[in-house]
Amino acid sequence: MEPGTSTSDERVLPPVEEMAAWLDGRHPGGDGVLASRARETMLAEVGPAVHMRGLLEFSNSCTQGCYYCGIRNDAGRSVRGVRRAESVPLRFTLSESEILDAARHCLNAGFGSMTLQSGERRDPAFVAFVERILRRIKAETTTPELPEGLGITLCVGEQRRDVYERFFNAGAHRYLLRIETSDPDLFARLHPPPQSFDRRVQALTELQEIGYQVGTGVMIGLPGQGGEELARDISFFAAIDADMIGMGPYIEAPGSAYVEMNRRSLLPAGSTAERLRRALRMIAVTRIALRDVNIAATTALQALSPTGREAGLMFGANVLMPIVTPGSRRDSYQLYQGKPCIDEAAEACTACIIGRAARVSRPVTQNGWGDAPHATRKGRIPA
Ligand code: 5AD
Repeated sequence: MEPGTSTSDERVLPPVEEMAAWLDGRHPGGDGVLASRARETMLAEVGPAVHMRGLLEFSNSCTQGCYYCGIRNDAGRSVRGVRRAESVPLRFTLSESEILDAARHCLNAGFGSMTLQSGERRDPAFVAFVERILRRIKAETTTPELPEGLGITLCVGEQRRDVYERFFNAGAHRYLLRIETSDPDLFARLHPPPQSFDRRVQALTELQEIGYQVGTGVMIGLPGQGGEELARDISFFAAIDADMIGMGPYIEAPGSAYVEMNRRSLLPAGSTAERLRRALRMIAVTRIALRDVNIAATTALQALSPTGREAGLMFGANVLMPIVTPGSRRDSYQLYQGKPCIDEAAEACTACIIGRAARVSRPVTQNGWGDAPHATRKGRIPA
C-alpha cells in the first residue's frame, strides 16, 4: 500500500486492555515483534522518511511552576528550602538576529522545518516578539525549494485564542502542546494553579479550530502510570484527533522542586532502563493505534541512552528534532538532567542527527515540511 492511502476515519484502536498489556511488556512475541509491527504500520501509513525540525529553544523565561521542569519559574530556589545557585538557570531570550541565524542554518541544512520552543510568557511584549520573528523567518527563508519558507512549529505554551490566531496568521502552521498526562488528578498534582487540565484540553481544541496541525504528548514514567494509564493516554490522543505526538521519558531535573515533588510523590518511577523501554513501547503502540500521525523520537530518549533516538525510530517514530540552539545557551535550557548535546554547536548536531537516521537505514526528507498525512487528509493545511 502507498503511504497515505488508508482512511484514518476508519481508525479503530486496539482495546485498552490489549494496548495496556503491550505497554507493560506483554506483547506476544515480545518488544521486538511489537517494534516490527509498528514499523510496518509506519511504512504503510507515513512511509520510511524521517522529517527534521530544527529545534530552537529561544527563551527559558517562564511564568509557570510545573514542579518537574528545570526551567520552572522558581527553578533551583526550593531544593529542601535552600537556594541552590548552581541549579538556577540563567534566564535568556535570543535576539531577533540570533533567531534568524538559526532559521538560516535550518534552511541550509535542508531541514525544511523548524520548531520554536520557549518557556511560557503571555505579556504583550513577548507576543509581539514572537509574531515578529515568525513573519521575519517566513519572509527570509523563502527559496525555490521552499516557496512558502520553512515550516514552523510553535511550542510556547498556553496563550489566549486571539494570540494563537495572530501566530497562525504570522506563519506558524503547527503547534505542540503536551497534555503531559491524560489523568486530570495527576495533571493537577504536577502543575500548580493557575494551570488546569480542562484549560489545557480547551487550548488544544482552540488550536485545531484555528487551523493548526496540533501535536500533543505525555511524559513516560510518571508515578502511578502503568500500562493501562498509558493506554488511556493513547485513547486521549485519538479522541482529540492529534496530528503529531511528542513523548519522552520523565527525568529528574536539576532545578525542579524536589521538596514539593517528594511531598506530592512525584519523583520519577522505575529505573532508567525501565522508563526507556516503556517510552519505546509507547511510541510503538501509539504508531499502531494512531497510524498516520507524525511521531517524534525526542531528545529525552537520548538522555537515557546514547542511542535512544535511533531506538525511537526503530519503534515507529518518523520525526527528529536536531537542536539548533546556540551552544552558549544550551546549558541554560535543561528541562531535565542528562540532556545530551549541551556542549555541541548547531553544525555538529546537524551532522550527528543525519547520521542517526542513516544508521537505522532511513532516508531524511530534504527541504520539505513533512506534514503528517493525518493532517493533510483532514484538510489541515495552511491557506
Ligand atoms: N522530564 C521529562 N520531560 C520534561 N519536560 C519538562 N520537564 C521534563 C522532565 N523533568 C517536557 C514536558 C514539556 C516539554 C517541553 O518538556 O513534557 O511539555
